[in-house]
Amino acid sequence: MQLYFIFFVVLILLFILSIILISLIFTTVFGGIPYLPSHPQRIEDMMQLAKIKEGEKTVDLGSGDGRIVIAMARKGAEAHGYELNLFYVLLSKWNIWRAGLSGKAFIHWRNFFRTNLSSYDVITCYGISYLIGRIEKKLRKEVKYSARIIATSYEFKNWKYSKKKDYAFLYKKD
Ligand SMILES: C[S@@+](CC[C@H](N)C(=O)[O-])C[C@H]1O[C@@H](n2cnc3c(N)ncnc32)[C@H](O)[C@@H]1O
Repeated sequence: MQLYFIFFVVLILLFILSIILISLIFTTVFGGIPYLPSHPQRIEDMMQLAKIKEGEKTVDLGSGDGRIVIAMARKGAEAHGYELNLFYVLLSKWNIWRAGLSGKAFIHWRNFFRTNLSSYDVITCYGISYLIGRIEKKLRKEVKYSARIIATSYEFKNWKYSKKKDYAFLYKKD
């Protein structure tokens, strides 16, 4: 009986490890942005710049463990996150459930480069130097004129931010 239990636990651990490994390979091959969580103070700065209004539709591009999606949902938004890494998709769904925000915050296991972003009012993204140009190009082409875009860590190269708070930058399309 005890041996069966140990076998079962080992099997579960192996399953979890393989999900993490497959997800990491998947993200590296298809995404290229590693997981670096935003510091709580940075998230606070982003929320101050975003000025989210009740019922607005928001999105975090590469949502990791869901911390920004959760912060946006707490401000009253219908908050979405796109994430390639299955491990973080599952973890963020769990975090959303624990925060009591199911029905307000949604995580999609999807590549944000292959997602149309034109319906969002607020878009947040964690820029990585070698991808920031590609993200900038997509956003300038696709988002609606009233949208507020908050980039963190890196600024866009060809787009002047309208406001800045430490390493969080606010962009508007006009
Ligand atoms: C730097 S982390 C930021 C996590 C979170 N936004 C935060 O600030 O705490 C970037 C995340 O983007 C995900 N990612 C990378 N490329 C992606 C893509 N093309 N589509 C969706 N997610 C992607 C990675 O798996 C990683 O979890």
